[in-house]
Amino acid sequence: YAQGDAAAGEEKSESCAGCHGEDGNSNAPIFPKLAGQHASYLAKQLHEFKKGKRANPTMTAMAEPLSDADIDDISAYYARQKVTLEKAEKPNPLGEKIYRTGNASSAVPACTGCHGPDGAGNPSAKFPALRGQYAAYLEKTLSDFKSGERANDANSIMRAIAAKLSSEEIAAVSGFTAGL
Ligand code: HEM
Ligand code: HEM
Repeated sequence: YAQGDAAAGEEKSESCAGCHGEDGNSNAPIFPKLAGQHASYLAKQLHEFKKGKRANPTMTAMAEPLSDADIDDISAYYARQKVTLEKAEKPNPLGEKIYRTGNASSAVPACTGCHGPDGAGNPSAKFPALRGQYAAYLEKTLSDFKSGERANDANSIMRAIAAKLSSEEIAAVSGFTAGL
């Protein structure tokens, strides 16, 4: 991954807008927001969709024609957009507890350790930003990590964590995280 050209990326992202929105703040909660996401993480996902390592037929078809430079440019464009934050949820003690401290009884680590206290993630480690992401997408992708349907995480980090979360905990932490 190299630093891309955001202006070129804006033009190259026209075919993405129907689902992810012109500014990356996607049109429906099943389409993840891309706005403000780290370019390093976006590029990793696009390469993996292209290779089929992250399984999703729609996104594999979209990523297939993209060159390495296209991926860098599109990733630079979305990274520069501002994510629209979701309204903070009503108090959600279970979700907040999982996010901030994990669950000692099932050896779930705190999400803050990698995704940060405000959900900003970490671009150099390719830890994605989670703040403002739709709860429905977070819940779906965590369930996919748990079932192994999503298996593109380096060293199985997220699969190991999600496997230890109950579906109730996944729903709660998704709702909490979306409102960060
Ligand atoms: C996921 C980029 C077009 C539907 C993603 C992700 C990226 C991305 C980077 C992963 C986000 C994350 O992990 O947080 C793009 C680009 C496109 C494009 C660059 C244009 C070249 C589309 C279109 C659709 C679509 C046209 C709808 C027909 C989806 C869906 C997911 C997704 C459903 C979630 C997949 C899953 O659950 O694993 N896209 N996208 N995308 N995109 Fe796109
Ligand atoms: C990805 C949630 C803990 C490292 C993700 C994603 C979600 C998530 C929803 C996918 C984001 C997207 O598709 O846009 C959580 C929750 C956690 C947690 C709820 C706590 C229960 C951690 C910890 C680490 C970590 C402790 C580091 C040790 C990662 C990495 C990815 C990721 C590296 C990217 C995987 C890839 O490249 O596809 N996490 N996370 N997460 N998380 Fe976590």
